[in-house]
Amino acid sequence: MSGSYAHTPLSIFRRREVFEEAHVPEEFLYREKELEEIASCIRPLLQGVQGNTMKIYGEPATGKTTSIKKIFAQVPESNIACVYVNAMLRQSAYTILGEIAMNLGGQNAMPDKSTGTVKLVDIIMRLLIKNGRSIVLCIDEYSYLSPRDIEAVIAPFLRPWEFGKVSKGLKSSVLLISTSVTNPSIRSSVINSIGPHTLQFKPYSFEQKYDILYHRAEAGFGKNVVEDVALEIMAGINVRWGIQTLKLTGEIADTTGETKITGDIASRALNRLEGGMNANSVLNSTEKVILHEISQRGKMFAGEIYSFSLDKLGLKKTRTYEILQRLLKLGILEATEHNHRGRTRIFKPVQESGLNGMS
Ligand SMILES: Nc1ncnc2c1ncn2[C@@H]1O[C@H](COP(=O)(O)OP(=O)(O)OP(=O)(O)O)[C@@H](O)[C@H]1O
Ligand SMILES: [Mg+2]
Repeated sequence: MSGSYAHTPLSIFRRREVFEEAHVPEEFLYREKELEEIASCIRPLLQGVQGNTMKIYGEPATGKTTSIKKIFAQVPESNIACVYVNAMLRQSAYTILGEIAMNLGGQNAMPDKSTGTVKLVDIIMRLLIKNGRSIVLCIDEYSYLSPRDIEAVIAPFLRPWEFGKVSKGLKSSVLLISTSVTNPSIRSSVINSIGPHTLQFKPYSFEQKYDILYHRAEAGFGKNVVEDVALEIMAGINVRWGIQTLKLTGEIADTTGETKITGDIASRALNRLEGGMNANSVLNSTEKVILHEISQRGKMFAGEIYSFSLDKLGLKKTRTYEILQRLLKLGILEATEHNHRGRTRIFKPVQESGLNGMS
């Protein structure tokens, strides 16, 4: 595909859209197992049997929403309605059920404002039965809803056969997504119906994030445009911010007419984005511990930092060296040469980086 998109003399971008938040990547890496587990909840519906319910959780930017989009794109729409609703954007049972009804029946399906939630569920059930479809209902970021609203939305779809005559024979599967494993105090009867299926999206390792960004950079800029050191800087933050940073590096390069994304450009982009994110998303926990220790003491010799991270964190010298390099590159630490039984470096926090006052 890349061959058909040439760089224009005006821009380093080949396919700018791959950096958009809504873009579903062609290459979705390291989530085969998770995709398979989600698919197994839906698969019974293909055989006309009730599907499973699953709670999906994991830290931000671990690919939860993207997984659902990938799976939904593969389900045969004529038999199974796949409905995705983000509760952050619609924080009541009424608006969520209204959106589901509209999704299935178009604007006409939406009754007037006085309609209650039970009536809305009834409308949804009738639409499904009329068209001979089952439903996969995904409520993303469901913790934005009150426990009562969660129940009003999901309870009818957990046991549709109990809702009433109208929904007899309806088959469903419910997928609930949030960033934390604990959910708001949903009534125990509902929890029982949700059942035991939970799926954790574990955080990506540094190497995995590097790889994901490498592929995204190639899709957006072409081969070998983004230098390794730039990718390393971006792989230190979460994937969403990493992709945002990639996009910004392209914009910076365009203003200066550069044809490569260097480490320097990546650092500048990251510094600019810092306003919009906090230190928690820039640094991982190990880096924070090391930075915290240096901040506490004011300054530290390289040797002291190596001993500290070996004793307290079990890190080898090479790993600590990498972390120090990264903190330097990000402009969070600065180093000065010092003659102390031979040459050594002293590290101290850069005051105006705004990233050292963390707890
Ligand atoms: N394995 C991956 N391969 C390629 N891109 C990925 C991968 N995981 C995440 N991304 C990208 O990272 C961004 C965030 O992913 P996504 O929105 O799916 O995360 P999430 O787990 O739903 O996060 P949140 O909890 O904040 O909603 C998206 O742009 C997505 O394309
Ligand atoms: Mg999400």
